[in-house]
Amino acid sequence: MKTNAAETGSRVIAIDGPAASGKGTLARRIAAALGYALLDTGALYRTVALTLLRQGGNPDDSVAAVRIAESLTSADIAALSGDPDLRSDQTGMVASRVSAIEGVRAALLTLQRSFARHPPGGLPGAVLDGRDIGTVICPDADAKLFVTADVAVRAQRRQAELAGRGDPISLDDVLADMQARDERDTRRDIAPLRPADDAVLLDTSALTADQVFDQALSIIRTRLGT
Ligand code: DC
Repeated sequence: MKTNAAETGSRVIAIDGPAASGKGTLARRIAAALGYALLDTGALYRTVALTLLRQGGNPDDSVAAVRIAESLTSADIAALSGDPDLRSDQTGMVASRVSAIEGVRAALLTLQRSFARHPPGGLPGAVLDGRDIGTVICPDADAKLFVTADVAVRAQRRQAELAGRGDPISLDDVLADMQARDERDTRRDIAPLRPADDAVLLDTSALTADQVFDQALSIIRTRLGT
């Protein structure tokens, strides 16, 4: 399976890592700097989760989750993209649960690979951020980064982000949720969160967003030969 320049001419950057590691912000800045399309793949799992919740479904109802994932359209994704509930802690937890379901992952895999091969707007490349981009979705990506940070640092970041959106939650609760999510994302049988063998590890615990961006861009430019 080729997802990179060898097949379509599209360059692919894979950015993986756990929740609140800084990968989302980084992916956005890298895509803007390179003029590439951006796909936040966590938003796809969150869209499935939020749709399930709004239908009054049980988060463990895998049949309903697969049905939602299989029928997901770009319009559904766009419709929920600015919804504040998409980014809530509860949606994140349910997204982590539905993301362990094989049928959900299979349905979303096609969508992600198609985006990588044919970035919208005819852009020359795509940045995908998630958990399994470098290992499963785009194993032939031109550059792979695995962004990490200490769990206590990530919990603080997430708490500040949630508070900024008027969703106050105690640090202890955020930390507990994050540890549960890390555990589920790394231990699931299908496409667990782990760095690809050829990924460059970037620990952002003690770095500012600008430092992370500078280091990442330099690594990526080296890999792209630009
Ligand atoms: O990055 P995020 O917090 O928006 O992701 C929400 C959940 O979706 C995360 O806990 C695990 C799942 N996910 C996944 O399994 N694979 C991806 N490529 C992206 C997200």
